[in-house]
Amino acid sequence: MVRAGIEDIGIYIPRGYVSLEKLAQARGVEVGKYTNGLCQEGFAFPFSNEDVVTIAANALENLLLNDSIRLEDIGRLLVATETPLDCSKTIGNYLAGLFDIPTDCEVYEVKHSCIAGTFALFDALNWLRSGQNDGRKAVVICTDIAQYEAGSASEPTQGAGAVAILVSENPKLLSIDSVTGTATKDCADFWKPLWSDTAMVNGQLSIDSYLEGLRLAFEDYEQKGGNTQFDYCVFHNPFGKMVKKAYKTLSELLPELKGRFEEKTAQSLAIGRTAGNAYTASLDLALASLLLHEGERARGKSVGMFSFGSGYSAKLFRGTVEGKLRDITLPTRVELSIEEYDNMRSGQLHLEEHEGFLLQRIDERGYRYYTKAGN
Ligand code: HMG
Repeated sequence: MVRAGIEDIGIYIPRGYVSLEKLAQARGVEVGKYTNGLCQEGFAFPFSNEDVVTIAANALENLLLNDSIRLEDIGRLLVATETPLDCSKTIGNYLAGLFDIPTDCEVYEVKHSCIAGTFALFDALNWLRSGQNDGRKAVVICTDIAQYEAGSASEPTQGAGAVAILVSENPKLLSIDSVTGTATKDCADFWKPLWSDTAMVNGQLSIDSYLEGLRLAFEDYEQKGGNTQFDYCVFHNPFGKMVKKAYKTLSELLPELKGRFEEKTAQSLAIGRTAGNAYTASLDLALASLLLHEGERARGKSVGMFSFGSGYSAKLFRGTVEGKLRDITLPTRVELSIEEYDNMRSGQLHLEEHEGFLLQRIDERGYRYYTKAGN
C-alpha cells in the first residue's frame, strides 16, 4: 500500500471579525450563553468583495508560500464547499484561471455539507494509492462561509475560512491510515435550499445526530480493525462546546481518554474560537491549530480525526504526525461593529477588503471576475 497523506496545509480566515460579546449585547442575550455556553469568542465575516473563490485562492496562495510546491506537479484539484456560487461552473475552474494550474489537471467540486472536505481528501488518497497519479500530487481545498438567519439561535455559530491541503506520497505533515469508520443516515437536522443564503437548522437534532454519527462511525471503525490508539483527538468543530460534547462521547467508548481533554484536544480549538464554523474547512483548521500549537512535540504521535456532515454522514479515521507545520501567520483581523455587520448582511453597507484575491464584479449574466490586490 502506497504511503499517503498530507504534505502541507495553507490557511485563510477572512479578516472581518464579529465579537460574540458585542453580538450577545446587541441581541439581548446573556454574554455567557455565547462565550461559555458555546465556548466561542467571535466569528469571521467576509468583506463585500470576498467570496468562497477569493478565500480559497488566498488559502492556496498561503500553501504556495512553501516554495518546494510546483503547480505543474498537481494532477488533481478538488474543492469542497457547501457555499456554492453556481450550479454548474466550479470554484476550481475559477482557481485554474487565477493560478497557473496545468491544463491536464482534473478539477472538480465535492458536496456533502461539512464532511465534503473529508470525502475529497479520501478521494485524493485513493487516487494516489491506486497508482494512477503518474507521480503527481493532489490539492484539496475546503472553502465556506457559514451564515444563519440574523437574530436566530444559530447566528453565533457562524464563521468562514478556507484550507488548501497538499495530498501526496510524501506526507511530511500527516500520514493517513486507510481504515475509516463510516456512518450515514437520512436526517432533517440541517439543510440549505437553493433559494436560501442561510441554512435551516433543527439545532438540538443536529447536536444529537453529530454524537450519534460519532458513536456509529467509531463502532464501524473498531469492527474494521481500525487502530484506536489516539494521542490527540481532532473533531469537526462547529463551536467549542460541541467538541467538548464529542470528546465526552468518545471517552465513553474509549475510557483511556477520560479526563484528558486539555492534553488531547483543547489546542485544536484555537483557530475556530475566533473564525467560527468554517463548515468543510473546520476539521482541517482544527488539525492545523493543534499542529501549530504542539510543534515538534507532536512528531510521531497519532491523531484520531472525526468528520461530520449534516444530513448526515460521519467518518472516523487516524493519522500520524510526521513533522512540524511551517509557521503560519494569519492576517490581522478587523473588528466590525454590530451595526456594520447588520448593514453588510442586509446589503445596505459595502465594506471592501484590499488585500489578497478580490471579487471585482459580477456581470449581468452572473459571471464572476476576480483580481489580486496590487495587480
Ligand atoms: P441554543 O438554542 O442557543 O442552545 O442553540 P441552548 O439554549 O441549548 O444553549 C447553548 C448552551 O449554552 C447550553 O449548553 C446552555 O446550557 C448554555 P449545554 O447545555 O449544551 O452544555 N447556556 C449558558 N451557558 C453559560 N451562561 C449562560 C447560558 N445560557 C445558556 N447564561 C445551537 C445552540 C448550537 C443549537 C445553535 O446555535 C445552532 O443551531 N447552531 C447551528 C447548528 C450546529 O452548529 N450544530 C452542531 C452540530 S451539526 C454540525 O456540526 C454540522 C454543521 O457544521 C453543518 C454541516 O455539516 O454542514 C452545523
